[in-house]
Order: sequence, then structure tokens, then C-alpha cells
Amino acid sequence: MLLHIPNVLTRDQVVECRRQLDASNWIDGRVTAGHQSAKAKNNEQLPEDAPLAKQLGQLVLAALEAHPLFISAALPHKIFPPLFNRYSGGQAFGVHVDNAIRQVRNTAHRVRTDISATLFLSAPEEYHGGELVVEDTYGTQRVKLPAGDMVLYPATSLHRVEAVTRGARVASFFWIQSMVRDDTQRTLLFDLDNAIQRVARDVPQHPSVIQLTGVYHNLLRQWADL
Ligand code: NI
Repeated sequence: MLLHIPNVLTRDQVVECRRQLDASNWIDGRVTAGHQSAKAKNNEQLPEDAPLAKQLGQLVLAALEAHPLFISAALPHKIFPPLFNRYSGGQAFGVHVDNAIRQVRNTAHRVRTDISATLFLSAPEEYHGGELVVEDTYGTQRVKLPAGDMVLYPATSLHRVEAVTRGARVASFFWIQSMVRDDTQRTLLFDLDNAIQRVARDVPQHPSVIQLTGVYHNLLRQWADL
């Protein structure tokens, strides 16, 4: 499932993030790339251990925890500390697949990358190109979202970022280890959750609301690993 999650950050939060990011030092993005993806990757990144990356990462994590659509879709168990990147001057990231396991720098923490996330911090009209292109089971998806919005997609997908030929594309990117590792099962739970919420809103007293909520939790109990 590829899902657009709107308004993860408010307009004010985006402006503040950008003010700090635009004034900071960026390094070659290949530092966090795996063997295959290093050959395809050409962008800049904030150093993982930069105080600003940690500070803005905390802001993103706090926003995610308060976002019901994100929780329902990702069923997060662990979230890799958000990283920040920038593409400009023709930079691009050729087709690649993300590493299955990521170790948090200078710690023993490891995250299995079930879901990849990109949170856009530049408005689409600020740059040319820069689409995230994801090869989904339903075909190729091209994603370019308003600043503050995020896309989630299965980390198993082949994907790339088109060359940014004018302006700069600034984004946060990270991975989620879900309680439910299988994308098909996670999508079923998300669809069921949405349907239950709609019925609960439209016909609050209907006894099926409780029954369906039970089905949801019993499926989650079957499929979750922590
Ligand atoms: Ni990637």
C-alpha cells in the first residue's frame, strides 16, 4: 500500500524546520547508503549525529505519534530516527531498494525496514523534478506532495528520485518496523479500521461495531510481533 498522509507538520513547523535546515551544513548523502544504493545515490544529507538532525527528528516523531492516520496505517513498533536530505543542481537517486535492516548510528538499536517514509519539506512549486517514483504492485506511482505531507510505501518496493533540475527538494526520510511486517495483512487491518470507524460514526449504536472491533483486535493479535 502506498499512502499519502496529509498535514504531518503544520505550516509553521515546516517554516521553522526549513529556516534551520537551509542554514545548516550538508554532507554527501552516500554516507548512509548501502553497497548497491551508493552507486545510484547523488544528494546531500544532514549528518546523522548532527544536533539539528536529532532535534528536528524529535519534532517529526512527536507529530507522527499524534497522527491517527499514520498509527492506523503503519502500526509502528519502532521508527528509525528521521534523517534529512536535499536534492538540487540535477541531483537524483537512481532506482534502488532500501536495506532490510538499519542500525541506529552508535547504538545497538536495529530497525527492520517494513515501511519507507518521505516527509516533504519543500513545496512542489519550489523545485522542478524531484518526484519519488515507486514501483508498486499496481504500477508505477509518481509522488510529489505539499510541504508537511508524507508518503508511506512498502520498503520492499524498487524506487527512485527524479533529478531536481531547478530549486531544491528538502525532505525527511526514515523507516518503520511495523508490528505487522506483511504489507497485505497491514493493508487489510487498515481497511477494516477505516470501515469500522465509518460505521461507528454513522450508526454508533449498531452492535456490529463491537463485533467488528473484536475481529480487528483478534486479527492484530494473530499477526502482530513485538
Ligand atoms: Ni530509498
